[in-house]
Amino acid sequence: MKKISLVGCGTIGREIANAIYRKIIPAKLVAIYDINPESCRRLKKKLNDISNGVKLPAVCRTLRDAIRPSDIVVECAGQKAVREIAAVAFPMKKDLFVMSVGALIRWNDIIKRAKKNGCRVYFPSGAIAGLDAVAAASLGKVDSVRLITRKPPKSLGLDISREKTVFRGRARDAVRNFPANINVAAALSIAGIGQEKTQVEIIADPKVQTNTHRVEITGDFGRITTCTENIPSPTNPKTSYLAILSAIAELRKIVE
Ligand SMILES: NC(=O)c1ccc[n+]([C@@H]2O[C@H](COP(=O)([O-])OP(=O)(O)OC[C@H]3O[C@@H](n4cnc5c(N)ncnc54)[C@H](O)[C@@H]3O)[C@@H](O)[C@H]2O)c1
Repeated sequence: MKKISLVGCGTIGREIANAIYRKIIPAKLVAIYDINPESCRRLKKKLNDISNGVKLPAVCRTLRDAIRPSDIVVECAGQKAVREIAAVAFPMKKDLFVMSVGALIRWNDIIKRAKKNGCRVYFPSGAIAGLDAVAAASLGKVDSVRLITRKPPKSLGLDISREKTVFRGRARDAVRNFPANINVAAALSIAGIGQEKTQVEIIADPKVQTNTHRVEITGDFGRITTCTENIPSPTNPKTSYLAILSAIAELRKIVE
């Protein structure tokens, strides 16, 4: 059974740990780490309630200690953490599962370093649908890939009554300007035609209650349009519930 270390015990980290202990993800959770040690302690206590005698993960004081006993490091902590983990995990020949996918296009040496060390980097489709078709389409000629994200203005720090485009441009720049909430643009770029060619529009829209992602692709294959209307997770309104479920589904595939 694959051994997982978890970095980041917030909304997504807790749900992934929970899915491991509920045997939805057939793996062992061997270590947990968070810059806020209280988050680790709280998670361990919760896992204790459902562990049914299964060994609890070690609560680690350093990233290195957390990474050492694992086969796969699961990041649920933020873009900077991805960089920190990559620096430690790849020389130790550990694979990496990334939630903060934006980091992979912000620092494109991460994937290169993984390859150099014979390690794999995984990421989930997150809050959008159809990445499999995007990857397939990109093997042929693709004319355009567009992501149109609509968000409630409040979530972008705006108080407006009419819709307003807050960003229009390359995925590469979207990820830099909205690092906390544009992982979908990164995932779409990596699966498809890359961060320079993937076009992103972020709209503050008072008509939407939740984050909505529309993906439009045209090419020799024809045309794909998908639209995902996401319900936020109850504990972190910035994180879509579908993103959590997609992480669990993807991890399950990887470790099986
Ligand atoms: N791929 C996707 O579709 C998708 C969707 C939602 C969120 N995300 C990303 O996943 C990440 C986690 O989201 P969340 O909702 O669980 O956030 P959260 O804020 O609920 O939890 C993050 C946790 O990570 C910890 N942390 C922060 N920096 C750290 C570091 N350097 N090392 C160790 N721990 C650290 C925090 O203390 C916190 O407990 C975020 O970066 C978010 O952007 C990705």
